[in-house]
Amino acid sequence: MKKKVVSVFLAMTMVAAMVAGCGGNNAASSNAAGTNGADTTGNAVTDDAAPADTEASDAADAAADAAGGDLADKKVGVCIYQFSDNFMTLFRGELENYLIEQGFSKDNITIVDGANDQATQTGQIDNFISQGVDVLIINPVNSSSAETITDKVVAADIPLVYINREPEESEEQRWADNGWDVTYVGCDARQSGTMQGELILDLGLETVDKNGDGKIQYIMVEGDPENIDAQYRTEFSVKALTDGGIEVECLSDQVGNWQQDQAQSIVANALGQYGDDVEVVFCNNDAMALGALQAIQAAGRTVGEDIYLVGVDALSEALEDVIAGTMTGTVFNDHFAQSHGAADAAIRFLNGEKNEYYIACDYVKVTSDNAQEVLDMVK
Ligand code: BGC
Repeated sequence: MKKKVVSVFLAMTMVAAMVAGCGGNNAASSNAAGTNGADTTGNAVTDDAAPADTEASDAADAAADAAGGDLADKKVGVCIYQFSDNFMTLFRGELENYLIEQGFSKDNITIVDGANDQATQTGQIDNFISQGVDVLIINPVNSSSAETITDKVVAADIPLVYINREPEESEEQRWADNGWDVTYVGCDARQSGTMQGELILDLGLETVDKNGDGKIQYIMVEGDPENIDAQYRTEFSVKALTDGGIEVECLSDQVGNWQQDQAQSIVANALGQYGDDVEVVFCNNDAMALGALQAIQAAGRTVGEDIYLVGVDALSEALEDVIAGTMTGTVFNDHFAQSHGAADAAIRFLNGEKNEYYIACDYVKVTSDNAQEVLDMVK
């Protein structure tokens, strides 16, 4: 049922991509993921994530059968960059459930918290290697550590599935060149940024331009710059506006590290400094949008009337705000497709099959029109 809803939404989604940004964060435009857009898909989750996910599940079932149904004996090590991250909490919960549904034993699935510290995570990976796990699923603390991680995991002859924080293109190319059992499963963050910009663009300049100066003044709150998602969302949200012919002015662009409390104080300060000139608040994720909303309300401003607010992820709380009109919109970061895609890729490796080196899935734009349906799906 969930899958059907996703496919309906996906049919309505549009992908655009390009360049731009404000606040001097243009590094992403030359980044690796640039070649890995929605049209470069893997064999598990494709542009139409829902049917592909179904196919992927069927493929995984077949793989499990072919492996003689012995997944229950396989040991899976899962490294999460930080348990306290709201989105990764949804992701890891769904990943564990799905692995169990596919036939793994709960006792053989070990999920560890990297506590946002690469040294801690590296120690956890070393432990998994010495324990002899059969497959590793890793959400790196630092994407830039991927080369070191890959080298030690490949040397131990353990298949590896990266999730959520995409390694650089040169790193992915190395997996391909060497024919290693390593892949990345994730969404193209440029798409989510573009959708954020479109949520504002679709309202029209007349609606958003409260001070009537012919341009849109905005605040940007960025996630951890270690994650390419933060760079791309920052860049492409603004680009969607400028591509739509809207002039923009960046009043403030600061790093909130994906955290609600940090975003709250960033937005409170920016509202204090720029007052009514702030027309839009872009947050790279919903946790930060929830913090921004607290600051907006504390400043006596009203979303949908004198200010507009968008996030990414479609956390339940944010969806409730979109339904209530206290958030303008969000973008569904499909943790079902991503976690299932990662598990299916792991199963294929365990079964001696190959995976593409990049397995993609789609984001879904969320407005008050579809927020209830998305909420029914994620709850
Ligand atoms: C999510 C964020 C999350 C981050 C973790 C992003 O894709 O949108 O909410 O904090 O991943 O790396």
